[in-house]
Amino acid sequence: MAADPTPNPHATAEQVEAAWQDPKLANVLYHDWEAGTYDEKWSISYDERCIDYAVGRFKAAAGDAGPYKHAMELGSGTGFFLLNLMQGGVADKGSVTDLSPGMVEVALRNAKGLDLDVDGRVADAERIPYEDESFDLVVGHAVLHHIPDVQAAFAEVLRVLKPGGRFVFAGEPTKVGDFYARRLGRLTWWLTTNLTKLPILDTWRRPQEELDESSRAAALESVVDLHTFDPTELERMARAAGATGVRASTEELTAALFGWPVRTFEAAVPREKLGFGWAMFAYRTWQRLSWVDEKLLTGLIPREAFYNVLITGTKPE
Ligand SMILES: C[S@@+](CC[C@H](N)C(=O)[O-])C[C@H]1O[C@@H](n2cnc3c(N)ncnc32)[C@H](O)[C@@H]1O
Repeated sequence: MAADPTPNPHATAEQVEAAWQDPKLANVLYHDWEAGTYDEKWSISYDERCIDYAVGRFKAAAGDAGPYKHAMELGSGTGFFLLNLMQGGVADKGSVTDLSPGMVEVALRNAKGLDLDVDGRVADAERIPYEDESFDLVVGHAVLHHIPDVQAAFAEVLRVLKPGGRFVFAGEPTKVGDFYARRLGRLTWWLTTNLTKLPILDTWRRPQEELDESSRAAALESVVDLHTFDPTELERMARAAGATGVRASTEELTAALFGWPVRTFEAAVPREKLGFGWAMFAYRTWQRLSWVDEKLLTGLIPREAFYNVLITGTKPE
């Protein structure tokens, strides 16, 4: 088996230029660059807050919480979904995979710090480097929308699952959700970065180099974010790959309308301005709004209007 490539957190100008035409290269460069600061940037933790979130998404999609013997994650990033699912008792053993070597490195380091039984490989979801029927569970969070050929990825997921094994993907943007979330994010960025130019709000302005860096990252985001999904279309793809019991569900409407401006605001101001109190306010409000979305709005409003789509299914016995 060939050794995994090494991380490349500092891409050259030529590599970045080439990445504009090559979404997979863009994903590697963008996520290798992001890997070291990713957990901090997205407020990812490996404590009760994120365990509850990960297990909650899993249950919302699958209707159960395992336990499964051996789970593999596609596009694991730093391990946010699988490591927290393992801590929540959903899987005993884990394998993290990602196209970005930097992400696999950080995910393995995080798993070691948590004393979890996890190995890892650099892997393209369209060609997963594992034998047929290797896993009881395959999971992914916020990954499908980066993969050029989602249909090929589903076929690979079905191949590496054992008969009766399950897949769960969560955190994918719907077409409608992406439309309003991006506009709200852009408006918040514009308002915050312009208002903080006022002398009275001067101390809330992030240093220009950091803002420039965020803007460059946002530009590359348009290359790495390839898809938004219609839930029915996503179900069709999973069935075409041979899955049974396929079910897509959606969540977060008011929670996304609140969450996107909040996350963008957090990225636009100096980190030290927003302390623990802010983080708890943002999280608790998001939780309350998620409750409203789930208990009051689901069923009343078409599922396409919610921001996140989740999908599950199984490999036939
Ligand atoms: C938005 S991040 C999500 C990371 C993590 N799942 C999370 O929720 O924090 C998407 C991840 O998918 C990975 N990725 C992109 N294209 C991929 C592909 N074709 N195969 C496997 N992983 C891929 C990226 O490198 C990145 O780490």
